[in-house]
Amino acid sequence: MSLVIENATLAYNKKTNIIDDLSIELPRGRVVGLVAPNGSGKTTLMRGINHDILLKSGKIILSENETIFFLENQDSLFPMLSVQELFNFASNSWNSTYSSQKIIDLLDISNFKNKKISDLSLGMRQMVMIGVYLIVDSEIMLFDEPINGLDQLNMKIVSKIMLMLKERGKIIIVSSHLLDHLSEFVDQFWFLKDGNVVKQIDNTHNPILVKNDYIQIYGKEENAENEITHYI
Ligand SMILES: Nc1ncnc2c1ncn2[C@@H]1O[C@H](COP(=O)(O)OP(=O)(O)O)[C@@H](O)[C@H]1O
Ligand SMILES: [Mg+2]
Repeated sequence: MSLVIENATLAYNKKTNIIDDLSIELPRGRVVGLVAPNGSGKTTLMRGINHDILLKSGKIILSENETIFFLENQDSLFPMLSVQELFNFASNSWNSTYSSQKIIDLLDISNFKNKKISDLSLGMRQMVMIGVYLIVDSEIMLFDEPINGLDQLNMKIVSKIMLMLKERGKIIIVSSHLLDHLSEFVDQFWFLKDGNVVKQIDNTHNPILVKNDYIQIYGKEENAENEITHYI
């Protein structure tokens, strides 16, 4: 099982390539933290891998029967359903081995399982989105800033879940601005700049090193607050 990206170029118009001739190979069980300032192309790369946008050139190669899941944003959740109803629906639709109750327990969200999606806070909905990923249980999972709006406890839960998914051999790309949090579970950091991954480093669980690389590459410090206020 692997995900191979071969000379991928992605663009929204003829003039500018957002991802430019990117080649990468991810083996089973690899968890990558994708970091870069806003507008660098993190979301675009995920859309490309998930075939939500056409590749201008290049290829995305999957192993046989391999599935990808990418839930780009919270708008795709059904607002009128309760959390439990949504999970039941997802579990049935994907013929999942996971019951909604199992996922509710894993995420520790039984306190709001009967609330409608429309009545949840940003952070609560983020947890619900992660629940949908768990139910779908694809081999490749693309998480675009999954922890925005999460409190410390939920961030810990997400770290644990990511480690569990890695154990189960999933290939995961997760974008985030919170380098400390990524350091808890990723194998590698990828720095995206000018349409390509300009640096890959292994996670040594020392976020200071990652932050130094970040400053070196982008000439500024990562600022989580900007991104979070952007969402509120
Ligand atoms: N649907 C779109 N149509 C045209 N341009 C887009 C679209 N989505 C993103 N872009 C442009 O692509 C670039 C990368 O955006 P994005 O992938 O969202 O970056 P990031 O996720 O790293 O913040 C930006 O310049 C953005 O304006
Ligand atoms: Mg984005």
